[in-house]
Amino acid sequence: MRILILNGPNLGLLGKREPEKYGTASLKDIQLHLKKKFTRVKFTFVQSNIEGEMVDRLNQAMGKKYDGVVINPGAYGHYSYAIRDAVAALTVPVVEVHLTNVHAREEFRRHSVIAPVCNGVVAGLGPISYELAVRFLLENK
Ligand code: DQA
Repeated sequence: MRILILNGPNLGLLGKREPEKYGTASLKDIQLHLKKKFTRVKFTFVQSNIEGEMVDRLNQAMGKKYDGVVINPGAYGHYSYAIRDAVAALTVPVVEVHLTNVHAREEFRRHSVIAPVCNGVVAGLGPISYELAVRFLLENK
């Protein structure tokens, strides 16, 4: 099982970025935890602040390179039609995740343009959001 975990803008700052909202775990901590928890999964972890780079990574995932994708699009999730189209083109399952409960925050965060083309969304559970997304992919190979 090969899974791409794609993180969008500002998620490289996790641990230091607004810890009262996003917690104190760094992206590295989250990645190490996933590796430890799912030892049989071959993860590829990517974080990018650049929309086009995220689209490129998703396009590359089309060639049967992965069996599933977990995407935390960050703020792009709220308005990037380019990322939405790249997700829609995928034939493998995709789960959108958010650390925070976007529905309990500012109005603009309540809408995702990515969610309608994903298999599901996990939001608000901190790093556990990623864990549950991976569990779904494992059970829906
Ligand atoms: C986020 C929520 C987004 O609204 C925000 O722009 C982020 C992080 C989350 O994981 O909670 O960068 O995707």
